[in-house]
Amino acid sequence: MAGNTAPATQQPVKHFNLVRCVAVCLLTLIVLVGLAVLITWLVIRPKRLVYTLENGSLQHFNLNNKHINATFDFVLMAYNPNTKTSVYYDSMESVVSYKDQTLALDTIDPFHQPHRDTARVETKLVAQNLALSPSTYKDLRGEKSSGEIEVDVHYKSRVRFKVGMWKSKHRTLKIVCPSVKLHFSWSRHFENVPCEVEL
Ligand SMILES: *[C@@H]1O[C@H](CO)[C@@H](O)[C@H](O)[C@H]1NC(C)=O
Ligand SMILES: *[C@@H]1O[C@H](CO)[C@@H](O)[C@H](O)[C@H]1NC(C)=O
Repeated sequence: MAGNTAPATQQPVKHFNLVRCVAVCLLTLIVLVGLAVLITWLVIRPKRLVYTLENGSLQHFNLNNKHINATFDFVLMAYNPNTKTSVYYDSMESVVSYKDQTLALDTIDPFHQPHRDTARVETKLVAQNLALSPSTYKDLRGEKSSGEIEVDVHYKSRVRFKVGMWKSKHRTLKIVCPSVKLHFSWSRHFENVPCEVEL
């Protein structure tokens, strides 16, 4: 009886050793992968892209018979603070709107932004005899007589990020520059508007 029990107790011990070895190996692997991810992250350290509307002007503004003519010029400064990541802006468009009514749009040529770089994105948005709702028309007349108009400027872009040889998939980047004040008089200074980013 005693001879039979000896191998029976040895078997679970061997089994237990194997399980322990696999567990230790797995744990080591997990720690190593975790460390690799942490080091990669520390090296790349992604930082948020920063956008500021630095100039805006309004020209050829005319309201007549519930229609508008206007030309908007904007300068967006795009700052990429990352030291390893560059950005591909594969398509980009800009919209200027007044109280949710789109006034004009413009498309921006694709460009690549290196790391630690500031890009200047200039747009000219033209509203050509655009029909307005009666309430928007009335509000815009009021703005004109006050000498100042407040619009929202949006940008939408398909972007990819590049780190070393690796390129990310396309993502949609939205930039919102809210409550942009434009003056009808040339003498007034444009106040910079910090923009919000959705990625
Ligand atoms: C802003 O734009 C207007 C018109 O394009 C230009 O005359 C003016 O010099 C610009 N101001 C700055 C600070 O860039
Ligand atoms: C806008 O300009 C066009 C010609 O460029 C003109 O026919 C139209 O009447 C203008 N509309 C307004 C609202 O001034």
